[in-house]
Amino acid sequence: MKVLVSDSISPKGVEILKKAGLQVDVKTGLKSEELKAIIGEYDALIIRSATKVTAEIIEAADKLKVIGRAGTGVDNVDKVAATKKGIVVMNTPGGNTITTAEHTIAMLFSLARRIPQATASMKEGKWEKKKFMGVELYNKTLGIIGLGRIGSEVAKRMQCMGMNVLAYDPFLSDEKAEELGIIKTDLDRLFTESDFITIHTPLTAETKYLINKDTIAKMKNGVYIINCARGGIVNEKDLYEAIQSGKVAGAALDVFEKEPPEEGYPLIADDRVICTPHLGASTVEAQENVAVAIAEQVVDYLINGTIRNA
Ligand code: NAD
Ligand code: MLT
Repeated sequence: MKVLVSDSISPKGVEILKKAGLQVDVKTGLKSEELKAIIGEYDALIIRSATKVTAEIIEAADKLKVIGRAGTGVDNVDKVAATKKGIVVMNTPGGNTITTAEHTIAMLFSLARRIPQATASMKEGKWEKKKFMGVELYNKTLGIIGLGRIGSEVAKRMQCMGMNVLAYDPFLSDEKAEELGIIKTDLDRLFTESDFITIHTPLTAETKYLINKDTIAKMKNGVYIINCARGGIVNEKDLYEAIQSGKVAGAALDVFEKEPPEEGYPLIADDRVICTPHLGASTVEAQENVAVAIAEQVVDYLINGTIRNA
């Protein structure tokens, strides 16, 4: 059986597929037409976030039995089209949780202390000590939207830093909130009381543009916003305007509605915005975890018919 790996994954994953006797082709950076032209040869497709598995690709995937996502979000796969064709879509929840929580926290500190801006300034030969006055996180309120795997790890760690944590998640039980020692709240209270707001939900019909001009209007003046979840949860035009008006003091963004964004995108050009190119899961450890997990799951399915994380 043949497996196509169309985004770059840790070699450890490829090794597992080969050891199981599968024929593996690693072809990254394929254009949509190129993927469509070859997908018919393969029994399995392994992706990260770059490959867009559209209905058109699925239509051409005559032998495909499984699409494996080395990571969490499967929003780059047309799941309805895949399901109609009997193709299993699986992911590896958990493998990059700690790494993404750590990235979020790095963004939170960098935003509060303006570390990326100060670094850029020093690299230009400047010593702008007065310009980069920061704010403490201690005793501030962190509002977490989405208290799943990543949100919970962020909550635990930031409580240790002395932040008060409020969380909104429609599926959060009172027991879990109590166990984590956080305040379970509704969105309105989270918006009005938080000094920093971080988002950890999937992108769904309910979360699309959850952060928009109306919800921003409810927030404290000088709030900071962090998005290491998915582009499209924040309305980027509204965020940009709120930063210009001073309502939002700064934002840290790892994900964008269009990735990569246009060159010279005003939101990214703004000095109060710090950003990374979807690096949330990019550590050696996390990439090994998700590559090994997806390879084992795909082998298990193709050879034993066992389905995990579908
Ligand atoms: P998860 O499924 O464990 O947690 C998501 C949580 O969001 C759940 O608890 C769910 O109940 C909650 N939720 C769903 N709808 C909601 C709503 N309308 N309002 C509030 N909460 C809602 O997922 P996770 O592994 O913690 O991942 C969270 C997000 O981070 C996902 O979007 C995922 O794709 C993204 N992610 C990004 C990176 C990155 O590289 N930046 C890496 C890993 C995951
Ligand atoms: C994910 O959903 O796991 C993330 O987007 C990380 C990634 O694969 O880049």
